[in-house]
Amino acid sequence: MSGWLSRWWSGGTPAVEPASLRDAARLAQLHGASFHRGWGEGEFEAMLTERNTLVHRLRQGRKVIGFAVSRMAADEAEILSIAIDSNQRGRGLSRDLLLTHLGHLAGRGIRTIFLEVEENNAPARRLYERAGFGVIGRRERYYKQPGGEHLNALLMRRDLS
Ligand SMILES: CC(C)(COP(=O)(O)OP(=O)(O)OC[C@H]1O[C@@H](n2cnc3c(N)ncnc32)[C@H](O)[C@@H]1OP(=O)(O)O)[C@@H](O)C(=O)NCCC(=O)NCCS
Repeated sequence: MSGWLSRWWSGGTPAVEPASLRDAARLAQLHGASFHRGWGEGEFEAMLTERNTLVHRLRQGRKVIGFAVSRMAADEAEILSIAIDSNQRGRGLSRDLLLTHLGHLAGRGIRTIFLEVEENNAPARRLYERAGFGVIGRRERYYKQPGGEHLNALLMRRDLS
């Protein structure tokens, strides 16, 4: 199928938009499918009502297929989570989501953004590096896996100008 035809068939070009309370259940579902310790619907509802939290959704047609969440404090922010529906990964969709999210953070006066990423998470590291984040630290055995294994975290930072 040609590019435009397959986009139309799957619901059109994906759009990055502010998430609303009505997205909480779907965001929890996406989070739970992406991380070992999933956040519940109530946690998303709380984040969606807090003024210091910024949540964007990635919507294709009527379906939400990704999200990005940051917490802001003064002129700094931390990206708490970003995920794409597992069926939609590898299409470059996270880049638009992240860059739009960063643009909104800049618009809120954020100057510096931090995040943590598991050292072996190659797609996420590549995403962040291409978006201008640099490694500023490493936390040994930071993430505990369900099987008991411990994985290292990298701390990354990007300054917005
Ligand atoms: C991380 C995540 C959001 C990336 O979303 P995505 O839309 O699938 O990412 P993309 O298709 O844009 O790929 C991102 C980059 O990683 C590269 N990549 C993808 N899979 C890879 C792999 N297995 N090894 C190395 N690089 C890989 C892509 O080529 C791309 O790099 P490029 O822009 O130079 O081509 C997605 O994989 C996800 O939801 N993962 C589970 C949740 C998660 O780990 N979130 C990050 C927590 S810090």
